[in-house]
Amino acid sequence: KKVIFSGIKPSGDLTLGNYLGAIKNWIKLQDEYDSYFCVVDLHAITVRQEPALLRKRTLEILAIYIASGIAPEKNTLFIQSHVPAHSEAAWLLNCFTYMGELSRMTQYKDKAQKLGESISAGLFNYPVLMAADILLYNTDLVPVGKDQKQHLELARDIAIRFNNLYSPTFKVPEAYIPERAAKIMDLQDPSKKMSKSEDNPNGYILIMDPPEVIRKKISRAVTDTVGVVRYSDEQPGIKNLINILSAITNMTPEEIERRYEGSGYAKFKEDVAEAVINELAPIQNKVKELLDDKTYLENIYKKGAEKANYVATKTLRKMQRKIGFIIK
Ligand code: TYM
Repeated sequence: KKVIFSGIKPSGDLTLGNYLGAIKNWIKLQDEYDSYFCVVDLHAITVRQEPALLRKRTLEILAIYIASGIAPEKNTLFIQSHVPAHSEAAWLLNCFTYMGELSRMTQYKDKAQKLGESISAGLFNYPVLMAADILLYNTDLVPVGKDQKQHLELARDIAIRFNNLYSPTFKVPEAYIPERAAKIMDLQDPSKKMSKSEDNPNGYILIMDPPEVIRKKISRAVTDTVGVVRYSDEQPGIKNLINILSAITNMTPEEIERRYEGSGYAKFKEDVAEAVINELAPIQNKVKELLDDKTYLENIYKKGAEKANYVATKTLRKMQRKIGFIIK
């Protein structure tokens, strides 16, 4: 079976963007692949996290994975920091990555601009840790949103470089980016990605937002004065809502345009809100149940770490041997 690796960082509450851009596709792919779904807590601490909140979010993300339909018996679900090979491989790969490559990462450049002097070295090196995550499992496919495409290309470059320097060691992974949900935009500013780190909560929908909040946020979503439900770059707000509806219902944008011909934005927005609520409500209930049973979750992440640790350590030893370390 081919291998999938993907992860989400517990640095904020998950949004509809995380769900449609990542999790929903993992569910579709899980039967065909041997899949590793990770909660990447090591990535989260590249910016300051409140310890209690980090712990809470780490477990909540695990619960969201399962509640969304990722079968814990079929897939490997684990917490990144439980598998030390990630940190070790990241150090090794850091020595095969150029400063120039990392300074060209657009996500880093954006954050550096916002954070100024207080940017951590971890944030700069972050894509190397991500490369380690992926390469340790001989991953074939990495299902992510479009914002991770550049990081994935770097992971490929690092893999190819290492393979060429020594001998074939890593599989060179491919990105899997969904068509409609590649980049869900901010509801208040559809030129920006929907993100858990935005200041204005009306711009994002959280997976755990209650129905009335979802209705309110979608009804307030920025649109335009054209007044026609059309899939067009000139109507970025409407286009984003069409993408959301399309990703949830599998209707194509053309089918959605036809369905809302002659109807105003209000009706369209109501339907988008109901679709989102119907998608998220059962997940929310299941998450709450799962979080009540900590031993269930504990068993899953312990078992996951064991399996992940076995595979990752094997690859790490291979790397160490090729580099020239003495293996004890
Ligand atoms: P993170 O935690 O920022 O986001 C998790 C996943 O959600 C996707 N995503 C979106 N997709 C569509 N529209 C949006 N508005 C949106 N916002 C987020 C992201 O593309 C991602 O797939 N570096 C990664 C985590 C990571 C990882 C990995 C992923 C660490 N190691 C190895 C894959 C493989 C990150 O920060 O994602």
